[in-house]
Amino acid sequence: MGLAPSFASVDKIIKPILFVLCLIPLFFIVFIAVQHVNPIEYFLDQTGLWALRFLLITLCITPLRKLSKWYEMIRFRRMLGLYSFFYAVLHVSTYIIFDQSLDISSIIKDIEERPFIMVGFFAFILLIPLAITSTNAMMRRLGGKRWQALHRLVYLIGIAGVLHFWWLAQSKVKLGEPFIYAICLALLLLVRYPPIMARLAKL
Ligand code: HEM
Repeated sequence: MGLAPSFASVDKIIKPILFVLCLIPLFFIVFIAVQHVNPIEYFLDQTGLWALRFLLITLCITPLRKLSKWYEMIRFRRMLGLYSFFYAVLHVSTYIIFDQSLDISSIIKDIEERPFIMVGFFAFILLIPLAITSTNAMMRRLGGKRWQALHRLVYLIGIAGVLHFWWLAQSKVKLGEPFIYAICLALLLLVRYPPIMARLAKL
């Protein structure tokens, strides 16, 4: 047995701890939002940021498990991906319910004025089938190959998420932060290139 935590300890100890840790950002977002001058805008921005952060963290798992050889790490991937979806649901519902007061015509007008919102919608729609098919039963039903092909959509979602952020920041002339996310995403996509992946596995 290696030094890496075993199958049982991953499931019984590390997973519940990780589950709680992933809720900490939400706790802080709510805590700060209620004291904020513009709580809805703050909540909207922060949940969007955390949806993107969890997406990128999820994409770190494959290269990290190859580097660390702690293969059990794969058992965290689904939870992290679902947390990205969870923060995205909070982000989108805040926009539709509180920012736009459930007014479809106002949303359409907003999309016409700020097309980056359309890219957000696109990313969110693509996240839905991934969340639905994240269970073991769905994985078996689809079969490994088809499941994997579907879940490759995560790369497109990552690109759309960063583009959504970039486009918004461009209008505010604040490109520093989305630039960092774009670099992280580019690196995470690059390490998936087979020759680089093979080298990582040999380290
Ligand atoms: C239906 C889907 C979506 C809609 C309608 C939407 C809408 C919005 C809106 C209105 C903002 C704030 C704009 C402002 O501050 O003026 C925003 C910001 C943001 N959204 Fe989305 N979004 C969607 C999906 C997503 C998804 C799926 C992600 C991530 C994967 C995401 C990540 C972000 C980020 C990172 C920001 C910037 C936060 C900041 O300024 O600090 N959004 N979105």
